[in-house]
Amino acid sequence: MSVKPINSVLFVCLGNICRSPLAEGVFRAVLAEHGKGLVIDSAGTGGWHAGQEPDRRSIAVAAKYGVDISGQRARKVLPEDFSRFDLILGMDRANVRDLKALAPHTLRDRVHLYLDFATGKAVDVPDPYYDGAEAFASVYRMIREASEALAKRLDAIVSPTSGQASSTM
Ligand code: 4NP
Repeated sequence: MSVKPINSVLFVCLGNICRSPLAEGVFRAVLAEHGKGLVIDSAGTGGWHAGQEPDRRSIAVAAKYGVDISGQRARKVLPEDFSRFDLILGMDRANVRDLKALAPHTLRDRVHLYLDFATGKAVDVPDPYYDGAEAFASVYRMIREASEALAKRLDAIVSPTSGQASSTM
C-alpha cells in the first residue's frame, strides 16, 4: 500500500510550553543532522500559555544538550492544523483523544501517539509541569530517543533510492 509522503509534522501537548516545544526543537536538530527538510511546529490543546516562551526548565534541559528552544512561542492548536500538517503527534493519550475530537473526520488518521508512532512503544511522554528537573531530564531523554527513531521512520516511509512509498503507517 502506498502512503502519502510526510512533509510536515506538528507536535502537540497540553500547554505547548514543556513537552512539545522540546519535541519540536530536538527533532529540528536531528533533521538538520540528517540533512532533511520538513515543516515542523508545535502547539497545545490548551491556549493558557499562548505567546509565551517555553518553560524555563525545558529551555534549560535543551540548552544542556546544545539545542536552543528559547525562540519558540506557544500557541493553541488551530482547526487548519489538521489539513496543514501531514502528521500530528500527541505527547500523551489525553492529547491524542483531544486532537481526534477536534479533527475533521476525514483527517483523524493523521493523529498518532508520539512515542507509538516513532518507536512502536505505546507509552505517554508524561507531563513534567508539576515535577522537578529530573522529570524534565527524563522527558528530554524520551524525546531525544524518539526524535532519532522518528527521523529513521520517516526516511523509511519514502525510500531515498526509489522515491516511492516503501512502508505503511
Ligand atoms: P506541557 O505541560 O503540556 O508539556 O506544555 C503543561 C504546561 C502547562 C500546564 C499543563 C501542562 N498548565 O496546566 O498550565
